[in-house]
Amino acid sequence: MRQRIILDVDTGVDDSLALLYLLASPDAEIAGIASTAGNVPAAQVAINNLAWLELARAPEIEVALGAADPLEIPLRTTEDTHGPHGVGYAELPTPIRRISTRSAAQMWVDLVRRHPGELVGLCTGPLTNLALALREEPDLPRLLRRLVIMGGAFNHPGNTTPTTEWNIHVDPEAAKVVFDAFSFAPPDRRPIVCALDITESIEMRPTHLIRLAERAGSHPIETVSPADPPEARSVASNPIIRHLTDAVRFYFDFHDGYDLGYLAHMHDPFAAAVALDPALARTRPATVDIELEGALTRATTVADWAGIWGRPPNADIVVGTDPVRFFDRMIARIGDHARALYPGQPVGDPVTRLR
Ligand code: BDR
Ligand code: CA
Repeated sequence: MRQRIILDVDTGVDDSLALLYLLASPDAEIAGIASTAGNVPAAQVAINNLAWLELARAPEIEVALGAADPLEIPLRTTEDTHGPHGVGYAELPTPIRRISTRSAAQMWVDLVRRHPGELVGLCTGPLTNLALALREEPDLPRLLRRLVIMGGAFNHPGNTTPTTEWNIHVDPEAAKVVFDAFSFAPPDRRPIVCALDITESIEMRPTHLIRLAERAGSHPIETVSPADPPEARSVASNPIIRHLTDAVRFYFDFHDGYDLGYLAHMHDPFAAAVALDPALARTRPATVDIELEGALTRATTVADWAGIWGRPPNADIVVGTDPVRFFDRMIARIGDHARALYPGQPVGDPVTRLR
């Protein structure tokens, strides 16, 4: 059965893979894409979304522009993590498609009202636009079929401050609005939360890029390495593989620069896979709240696992998964889709370094 998705992203290298994963999934239909400010400003996020849609020869899909700033604080972006335009070293073609005339928050509200109980929400960026939508439509938690959020760090260090995760850190007030709103939702509507605890176990490595290129029938099959200079670019025959290689290589370099190894955490595509198939994840219910005051801990996600606060659970936090199964699925879906989009590419060198 095809599932209709509202995708809310701050594209972003790993958001790009989440988008491609959904476009490549026969069981998914994207109802609309909200472009949220986060990794890069909202306008750049929208351009990236439109460019990927065009490269993936996607049908008409609405791309709406989100708020320029978080609810109460100035925007902070992270080009050092995702590249000057949010897509690493990739230089995506300028899109011809246009941004929607309605705002991202309005799109959320209109879509859930038009399809009550049908839509799956997937948020892989700050929660600004979902919070704005909740202000206009407080019944949104019941109108959605399911919500999956990439965000937070629970029994795990943060990636932005010692205790905070990026998406929550950018707009903690919005995160609080969202988790508070779900305090009143029935248990089967609780958001599934993919936090760093689990998404940092989803480690993409150069071998995964090789497998993707092979599956797509792209040539030459390129190996990327920390020795590649920043100006190196993929010459892969398949445009999806070519741009993904350049995007993900920047993310490898970033992680390597923080002594995490030559790998990249695939937070957002994992959340996309869970949105389509929650069986990929083992979850535990908890009551989640956001610290808004602490001098050292503002934007920390706090989970009450034991009911100490006496408040019902408002989230199902992912506590286990099988990363190998996830990568097999991601490579099969994106690889097959890339091959179908750009068939019959000429065969070049069997395996080569980047030029
Ligand atoms: C999250 O932060 C962003 O930089 C990534 O795209 C991901 O959504 C991980 O903390
Ligand atoms: Ca993201």
